[in-house]
Amino acid sequence: MSPRQIVIDTDPGLDDAIAILFALASPALSVAAVTTVAGNIGLERTTRNAGRLLAAAGHDTIPVAAGASQPLVGRGISEEAIHGDDGLGGVPLPGPMSPPVATPAARFLAEMLMSRPAGSIDILALGPLTNVALLLDESPEAAGRIGRIIAMGGAVNERGNVGPRSEFNLACDPEAAARVLESGLDVTLVPLDVTRKVRADRDYLDRLRSSGTLPGAVAADLIAAYFAGARDQESRPLHDPCVMLLAVQPALFDVRRMRLAIDCGNGVDRGALAPSSEVPEIAVAMDVDAKGALELLAQTLT
Ligand code: BDR
Ligand code: CA
Repeated sequence: MSPRQIVIDTDPGLDDAIAILFALASPALSVAAVTTVAGNIGLERTTRNAGRLLAAAGHDTIPVAAGASQPLVGRGISEEAIHGDDGLGGVPLPGPMSPPVATPAARFLAEMLMSRPAGSIDILALGPLTNVALLLDESPEAAGRIGRIIAMGGAVNERGNVGPRSEFNLACDPEAAARVLESGLDVTLVPLDVTRKVRADRDYLDRLRSSGTLPGAVAADLIAAYFAGARDQESRPLHDPCVMLLAVQPALFDVRRMRLAIDCGNGVDRGALAPSSEVPEIAVAMDVDAKGALELLAQTLT
């Protein structure tokens, strides 16, 4: 089967970086472009990190388009404490081989979608959904040509990670997330309910490092940096790689149809999900074969 064409929309970010390395190494995926968004850290650094990862993996001909530096509303949340000052935990990587393209991400995406067959490009979203929301608003015809959107975000039955019920990516830009979840497009959400189950421990890190492969070694450095910024020294959740794993091997996941609205208020649950009959159904990954997911990730990286 020919690989699926994807655009990675991302805020790298340690776990974003592992997800990007996986996508570049997977024979089932072909990365057409990387678009960046402010999230874990500011846009300048997420964009630079995308270029650094492509350079490290020898894929520097893949275009990077910088997107939104702010959410649609408000100012976002920074995760420097987890991802380090540079967003990649100080892991040594080469500089980008080329600057980002001059076109902003939403317009770049629109042009790419209009120039390819309808339905042929999927968006795998690993950060706040601002760029995708801007695409929907600015270029609805192009957005209608997206194959599917798979996005890491939200907490359904699981506790949140920035609020009692809210998860970082959705809470950073709830208005954008609502726009995407209510778009009627083919959207699959990968919430904390799943991503907290796919965890790297020290043995896993050693396995990646001892493989002697470049993606394995860089992923091991990224996981080591992830441990350095964490209280939990047993294992770290691999949130964003779950999006790529679902794209490549959906049978690893239990995906249900649900109607979930996003709290766009200003209370403690801003960005949280709640059942609602007033929004369209989307697909939501609610469980995962974590062992199988970790195995696919390690095999592909090594
Ligand atoms: C999400 O938030 C970010 O910190 C991670 O990169 C991931 O996309 C997890 O809540
Ligand atoms: Ca992310």
